[in-house]
Amino acid sequence: MAENLLKGKVGIITGALDENSIAWKTALKAHEQGARFVLTNAPIAMRMGAIKELAEHCKTIVIPADATSLEDIEKLYAEAKEYLGGNFDFLLHSIGMSPNIRKGRSYGDLNYDWMNKSFDVSAISFHKMMHVAEKMDIMNEWGSIMGLSYIAAQRVYPFYTDMADAKALLESIARGYGYRFGKMKKVRVNTISQSPTKTTAGTGIGGFDAFFNFADKMSPLGNAPAEACADYIITMFSDLTRYVTMQNLFHDGGYSTTGISEELMDQFKDL
Ligand code: NAI
Repeated sequence: MAENLLKGKVGIITGALDENSIAWKTALKAHEQGARFVLTNAPIAMRMGAIKELAEHCKTIVIPADATSLEDIEKLYAEAKEYLGGNFDFLLHSIGMSPNIRKGRSYGDLNYDWMNKSFDVSAISFHKMMHVAEKMDIMNEWGSIMGLSYIAAQRVYPFYTDMADAKALLESIARGYGYRFGKMKKVRVNTISQSPTKTTAGTGIGGFDAFFNFADKMSPLGNAPAEACADYIITMFSDLTRYVTMQNLFHDGGYSTTGISEELMDQFKDL
């Protein structure tokens, strides 16, 4: 394993809720690779407490911020800049939540206030994080900003309901702001489209186990685990990927370009 890929880099990691979170695993690896960073999560998630253990391990602090609030993001960046002693090289947006999914609403029966909430938390917050970063001029040149997406942005997964639309918006924002930040500061913006992963956000989706197993059988390499996703994020924060921008990068064991696998065909041959 390469060492010190992120030596001298500083940044912000959102979304570490518990040890299953993609952001949690990313924080551990970023620490291992020499990065310094501040952890943040919504105030309500922080009351659950686990993130403080992660902060101790990573020798850092936690600053609560609701990612839908411009004021919270400003305060987060200002305090993190003071703690880290300078501007940022990376930002991880690892945030997703849909009240409609939580309450089991189908795509034809969405509550529109909740749908707006899904979009704000899961996608527009990505725009807000970059908007505030631009206004505060807080990114270093050749920095890297990442969000996490899912293939329901391109294809229909009925149980993913309004999160599918949120992910399509998230990926679009990565392109729109990627152009802008590239021109302004040579900062790259990308999303990783991750395999189904057993986290709080993932397992909250109706039918998760079925599409987790289906994707696993469909992918020649099997589903990509959260830890491997963290590895990919680390490479995207490192200087080895400086010219990759405005991309949605599939990290899915080959799922997105497989038509059908032998294992799945076997299940249909005697019908
Ligand atoms: P997770 O549940 O561990 O992380 C989601 C995080 O979003 C939590 O830490 C939660 O506190 C945070 N959050 C929710 N509302 C917030 C707000 N208003 N302000 C700040 N933070 C807020 O689950 P996971 O899977 O690690 O999710 C991370 C990202 O990966 C999400 O964008 C998710 O949609 C995406 N993803 C997950 C997949 C999966 O199957 N688990 C597959 C593809 C993408």
